[in-house]
Amino acid sequence: MPEVRIVNVTKKYGNLYALDNVSLTIQDQEYFSLLGPSGCGKTTLLRLIAGLIEPTSGEIYIGDRRVDKVPPEDRDIGFVFQTFALFPHMTAWSNVLYGPKVKNYDAKQSETIGHEVLELVKLNERLNAYPSELSGGMMQRIAVARALAAGAKTLLLDEPLGQLDAKVRNEIRYEIRRMAKDLKLTAIHVTHDQAEAMSISDRIAVMKKGKVVQIGTPQELYMHPNSLFVAHFIGESNFLEGYITEVNDAYSEIELRQGLRIKALNPRDIKKEERVVLAIRPETCEMKRGHIKAENALFGQVDKTTFEGTIVRYEIRLDNGDRFVINRPSLTEQWINVGDEVTITYPLDKAHLFPYPEAGLTEEISV
Ligand SMILES: Nc1ncnc2c1ncn2[C@@H]1O[C@H](COP(=O)(O)OP(=O)(O)O)[C@@H](O)[C@H]1O
Ligand SMILES: [Mg+2]
Repeated sequence: MPEVRIVNVTKKYGNLYALDNVSLTIQDQEYFSLLGPSGCGKTTLLRLIAGLIEPTSGEIYIGDRRVDKVPPEDRDIGFVFQTFALFPHMTAWSNVLYGPKVKNYDAKQSETIGHEVLELVKLNERLNAYPSELSGGMMQRIAVARALAAGAKTLLLDEPLGQLDAKVRNEIRYEIRRMAKDLKLTAIHVTHDQAEAMSISDRIAVMKKGKVVQIGTPQELYMHPNSLFVAHFIGESNFLEGYITEVNDAYSEIELRQGLRIKALNPRDIKKEERVVLAIRPETCEMKRGHIKAENALFGQVDKTTFEGTIVRYEIRLDNGDRFVINRPSLTEQWINVGDEVTITYPLDKAHLFPYPEAGLTEEISV
């Protein structure tokens, strides 16, 4: 089964770089997601892999075969779209058998394949239903079955859960992953929903404005974001802006607004007086009521609390005016109220220091 390799691929529309020199390798049998805000080039990359469009430059390989000039029907690829692209006038069964029919399989062989794939998506009992009689989740399962029946070894899914309601979406996403794994398929799943990508992917490529920003497992992206954009787009981060006032072997000291000084571990080559941003995840912090003397602490006052079921979200105004968010498990914590003074501490090894972006922080993290 195939590995998919994208080498220096650029796709231009007029002067617009929909993809700008993208390289990445999707492993054989991997469940891989392309994640990024709307317009970043996810669909373009998927359509290039499928062969629906041609790259302006660069190469695409499926297995050992260079395919960027191979027509889509010869790439052994199945495509599942966001909108339900089933033939509306055909039953589930006829939709599924469309691929084998086009390939001129004999009737018996086609039927065997049809039942096999419908069994996989658990819809054998609905084979006479028309798309309009099926739920959104069922239609997407039929779409997957149709791709499989057509012999797809690589499954391309473009926001396949986008039209489904939240509860169904959660169920179907695990189901699609399970099928891909059971059948040893390579799956490339496009989504702008970071929670979806995090929960189903072996690895994720985070994209921004036609470029791949970072590739990694969900854990790697979450624990070790390589940029402010990823720290912001995957999960949530507090951003504290300041200047480096001291650098030693163990840590850097940062001066925030109003002269507040805090510490961070040194990344790469940070220099004294450099302008920086420290990214801190809301759930990594400790928070206590009152102003308590502590090493490397931030003081503030709670502006707002939101009960979100499993967590409580605290929005805090730090004494220097900066905003800060903390998430705590809702059941194990003492309730801290709006107006309470609080002391916040954070683990140094979970706070990430980045150079202040040239374009400005707001522009850098905007989606
Ligand atoms: N056929 C096209 N003609 C002109 N511009 C296009 C075309 N397809 C996509 N684009 C542009 O390329 C960029 C990437 O689009 P797309 O790949 O659809 O993004 P995504 O799927 O991440 O939302 C967007 O700016 C989009 O407007
Ligand atoms: Mg898209």
